[in-house]
Parts: sequence; C-alpha cells; structure tokens
Amino acid sequence: MIKAGIVGGTGYSGKELLRLLSFHSGVEVLYVSSRDKDKPVIDDYPFLPKKYSNLRYKDVDKKYMENLDVIFLATPSDTSHKIVKDIYDGNKVIIDISADFRLENNDYKRWYKFDHFIPELLDKAVYCIPEINRTDIKKDVKIIANPGCYPTSVLIPLIPVLEKVDPETIIIDSKSGVSGAGKKVAEDYLFCEVNESLKAYSIGRKHRHIPEIERYIKLWTGKNKKIVFTPHLIPINRGIISTIYLTGISETDYKIACEYVYEKYRDELFIKIVEPQIKNVIYTNHCHFNLYYDGISTMIIVSVIDNLIKGASGQAIQNMNILFGFDEKEGLC
Ligand SMILES: NC(=O)c1ccc[n+]([C@@H]2O[C@H](COP(=O)([O-])OP(=O)(O)OC[C@H]3O[C@@H](n4cnc5c(N)ncnc54)[C@H](OP(=O)(O)O)[C@@H]3O)[C@@H](O)[C@H]2O)c1
Repeated sequence: MIKAGIVGGTGYSGKELLRLLSFHSGVEVLYVSSRDKDKPVIDDYPFLPKKYSNLRYKDVDKKYMENLDVIFLATPSDTSHKIVKDIYDGNKVIIDISADFRLENNDYKRWYKFDHFIPELLDKAVYCIPEINRTDIKKDVKIIANPGCYPTSVLIPLIPVLEKVDPETIIIDSKSGVSGAGKKVAEDYLFCEVNESLKAYSIGRKHRHIPEIERYIKLWTGKNKKIVFTPHLIPINRGIISTIYLTGISETDYKIACEYVYEKYRDELFIKIVEPQIKNVIYTNHCHFNLYYDGISTMIIVSVIDNLIKGASGQAIQNMNILFGFDEKEGLC
C-alpha cells in the first residue's frame, strides 16, 4: 500500500480524488487538508468506506506530509507552488492538479500574474497525458504537472492529427460545466445566472489555457501554432465539449490523419472514437472524440471529457499508477 495525501480535499477535484482513491487497491489516503480543520472527512463524503471514519481534515502543514509517498495538490494556482516550496524534498512524489508546474517561468507573470516561487523545479516537472507521452514518466520523477481540463480535451485528438496535417488556422470552441470553476462562490456561477443560459468568457487571447495548449503543441509536434480559443459556460454540473476547426486541409490529408489517429488510439482503454456526447463520459476517465470534414477545406474535431476526472483527478491517478507501477487503469474503471 502506498500512503497518499490530498491538499485541497474539500474542493471539487479533491472530492473526486478521494472518491476514486477509495476504490484503489494499492493506495491508502492518510491525510486530507482543509483550512477548516478537525472535521471528520466522512461527514462531507458519506460515500467513503468505513475505514476512513477516523480521518479528519488537517491544516496544510508539512509535518503531516513527511511520511507520505504521494501528495496530490488539488489547490488553486498560485497556491500549489508555495506548498511545493515547503514540502519538496526530492523523495515523495507530488502530483499538482493546478497549473503551477505546466508552463515556463515567464508565462506565470504574463498569464497568471504571479512570480513563481521555485522556477528551478519547473524543468523537473513532467506534464503527462498518458495516451500521448506516458513514457516520459520515468521512475525518478518527483513532480507531475497534471494537464488542465480544456487542454486535455483538445490535445488528445489534436496532437496526432497535427503530426499528419499542417492547418492554416486552429480555432477551438470549448464549453464547460460549472464545476470547471471550482467550488468558490461567485455571482457568475449562481444557479439563476447559469441556468437556462450559455455564455462565452475570456474572449480573445485571454484564457490561461492558451499558453498550455500552444506549449504542448510545440513540444509534441514541433509546430509553432497560435490558436484561437473561446471557452463557454454551460448549465450542467460537469463535462467539457471542445470543437476544433482546422482550416486549409485537403480531403486526402484528412483521410491520412484519420487513419493515423485510429491506429494510434486503437488499444487505448480510455479513448474511443465515437459520436462524442458529454453524457457518455461523465463520471468516467474517458475521452470520446471524432474527426469530420466539411467537404471543402476544413477538418472538424469534436471531443468530450469529464473535466473533474479525465480533466483532473482521474488523469492524476492514471499518472500516479504509471509512476508507481500499478496497472494504469487501477481505480479508474
Ligand atoms: N474544477 C475543474 O474542473 C478542474 C479541472 C482541472 C484542474 N483544476 C485545477 O485543480 C485545482 C483545484 O480545483 P477545484 O475546482 O477542485 O477547486 P475548488 O473546488 O475551489 O477547491 C479548492 C481547494 O483548495 C483549497 N484551498 C484553497 N485555497 C487554499 C490555500 N491558500 N491553502 C490551502 N488550501 C487551499 C480549498 O480548501 P479549504 O478552503 O477547505 O482549505 C479547496 O479544498 C485548481 O488549481 C484548478 O485550476 C480544476
């Protein structure tokens, strides 16, 4: 059994981590943080097995994490890097679900408006979507930068396509359920604001997932592309749908890309090339997508995931499974 801790256990991603890890045969969760400490964790999450009855929230203090093998940080960006500065010792594994280890140092000031506390660790962190780069998780990796939710929905289908085609433009229209914003209380996320409505936000070159998507397109395909990315808020609890338009593509190249993508993902348990619908992926670690052609010059990709599972906690557990030598699907199906 490996010993795990979750910092940010009261949040939406933290809750999914606890739920999924409670089914994992090789992991025991011994520490869960909340600044509202001492309360039994099971009071918030009655679905937990009875063995967790004595687990109480503790505050964020490195003394509670010293003997753990793996710590999941399900904390906001600009919080995780400060915690890592305190707890990193080169022994335990840290899996950060925030954006604090996904980018280059300069990006944090430009996109996240903070100076990174430990830029020297950025190069040590491995960003991993297992279906694309699981071999980057070597045994000595100590920090995993878990990919963002929108980037996961986009990069899984897009990366292999870009290995075969070179579009003139990449336009991405993504829509997310409200849990994508986390548990914080804000007017924009109130029931009456969200229900029976749909709105775009961060329009223009504003959303913080733009540098992440562009960075990994460049690293994984060698192509230096600027994307157009517009996210939307939709009145559902969870799930993301991303529609990606690639212009300037011939029908022949579209067919070549399709063949390549089908072959690449043929044996991937969590990826299915089917008609993508959010209702079919929620509460799963799956990405469903499909590839279409408009008959003129545009290739269209539609992709769906559960933002809290394949877009956050499920992928974090998948990455942990690879690193610790568990079956990659353990706890996830
Ligand atoms: N929601 C998604 O779909 C999604 C997908 C991918 C990645 N992410 C990323 O995952 C992280 C967590 O997201 P979430 O949606 O689960 O957030 P959330 O629901 O708002 O939860 C945030 C958690 O962090 C804790 N926290 C907040 N500020 C803290 C601080 N200064 N020190 C220690 N703990 C603190 C909170 O605990 P207490 O207030 O109880 O202390 C809470 O448990 C974020 O970085 C987010 O960007 C989220």
